[in-house]
Amino acid sequence: MTDRELYEMALDVSKKAYAPYSNYGVGAVLVCDDGTLYTGFNIENASFGATVCAERVALFKAVSEGRRKFTAIAVASAREENCSPCGICRQTLSEFEPELLVIYKWKDEIVKRPLGDILSDSFVM
Ligand code: THU
Repeated sequence: MTDRELYEMALDVSKKAYAPYSNYGVGAVLVCDDGTLYTGFNIENASFGATVCAERVALFKAVSEGRRKFTAIAVASAREENCSPCGICRQTLSEFEPELLVIYKWKDEIVKRPLGDILSDSFVM
């Protein structure tokens, strides 16, 4: 799939988000090394801190099914606004692939950046 197709798929997923508090849907499509796709959207909670972002829902679905190798993730806001992964999601994704290619809208363009470029000196143990 092209970057644009992955972004459009993330946009479709974002429209199904469970986001009754912020009304800000986010969708993510995570690409495994063999091309398998895992989708996720944000799942909010009345206890706001319990909310989980779209990227981590996609990642945790994949990891919980035994997947460990990923090549790319596309992220989109249902508002079609600029929307890059938050810091927690960058760190969480970096655990599995520090050079994951991250596709998102930035300054009204679809960009694709290595995770290491948008998360420098990530925490490692
Ligand atoms: N959100 C995501 O799903 N991914 C991000 O990278 C940043 C924020 C969600 C969390 C919350 O439900 C809504 O967007 C507003 O912050």
